[in-house]
Amino acid sequence: MNRHLLSAGDLSRDDALLIVHTAEELARISDRPIKKLPTLRGRTVVNLFFEDSTRTRLSFEVAAKRLSADVINFSTKGSSVSKGESLKDTALTLEAMGADAVVVRHSASGAPHRLAGWISGAIVNAGDGTHEHPTQALLDAFTMRRRLGRLEGLRVAIVGDILHSRVARSNVLLLDTLGAEVSVVAPPTLMPVGVGSWPCTVSFDLDAVLPKCDVVMMLRVQRERMAGAYFPSAREYSRRYGLDAPRMATLPDTAIVMHPGPMNRGMEIAAEVADSVRSTIVEQVANGVAVRMAVLYLLLGGDSS
Ligand code: NCD
Repeated sequence: MNRHLLSAGDLSRDDALLIVHTAEELARISDRPIKKLPTLRGRTVVNLFFEDSTRTRLSFEVAAKRLSADVINFSTKGSSVSKGESLKDTALTLEAMGADAVVVRHSASGAPHRLAGWISGAIVNAGDGTHEHPTQALLDAFTMRRRLGRLEGLRVAIVGDILHSRVARSNVLLLDTLGAEVSVVAPPTLMPVGVGSWPCTVSFDLDAVLPKCDVVMMLRVQRERMAGAYFPSAREYSRRYGLDAPRMATLPDTAIVMHPGPMNRGMEIAAEVADSVRSTIVEQVANGVAVRMAVLYLLLGGDSS
């Protein structure tokens, strides 16, 4: 394992499987009445969130606490100072306090990489701009493996706002490493330039892809990152790229439906699909704790790091 977790692309197949297997062990702790291990006692984990988050921040906090680490939550929406400077000043403060790990979310792609140059502790990327979100990809892979029993050869469609999605990029990189066959599906305006060089196939036709997939991962339309109009209307978007019940019925019988949250119910995913038995959305959140425990354990306390 590397010292930091900055990109899903930095993980070898062995690293990724080690995290998934460790998470499997640690998930058992969450089923016990007392959900705590002494492993990271005396270590300090800082959650540094410059951007909004519900699931990811709570999940890292719970994960660190279940391993008995001291947790500091630092949430800020940034300042008027240039981002580089304010980030560096914050980093120097955290370094002075002796943070053993810094979990960072920032609206600027690359912010965790910069932090890694200023802080001696382990940096975990919890989402940087439109770039990457490696622990989300790890918890998604963990969820697929738990539900479907394997990752090798799984056909996974990632659908929606690929352009603004750090979840999509990290998932494509990790799933490729783990031997899954990934397609990204979006309207042309929400497909990133250069997607042709990603290790996946590209489609603009959701109806053609659905009957041939084991996993369909719906992504939120990220209006906060859109300055202009990327599609004619929400209604038109849903009609072409939303997952509703009739579309879900065209999936193979065993296929699952995923979404990293937060959802725009009624837009990219219909409420009845989100709440159906095929949906793993709530499991993804629960699995996120085990996976983040595994990441913190391996970066800070594991002997194989
Ligand atoms: C995602 C994120 O923040 O990148 N959510 C998450 O971490 N569970 C996706 C999103 O914001 O749509």
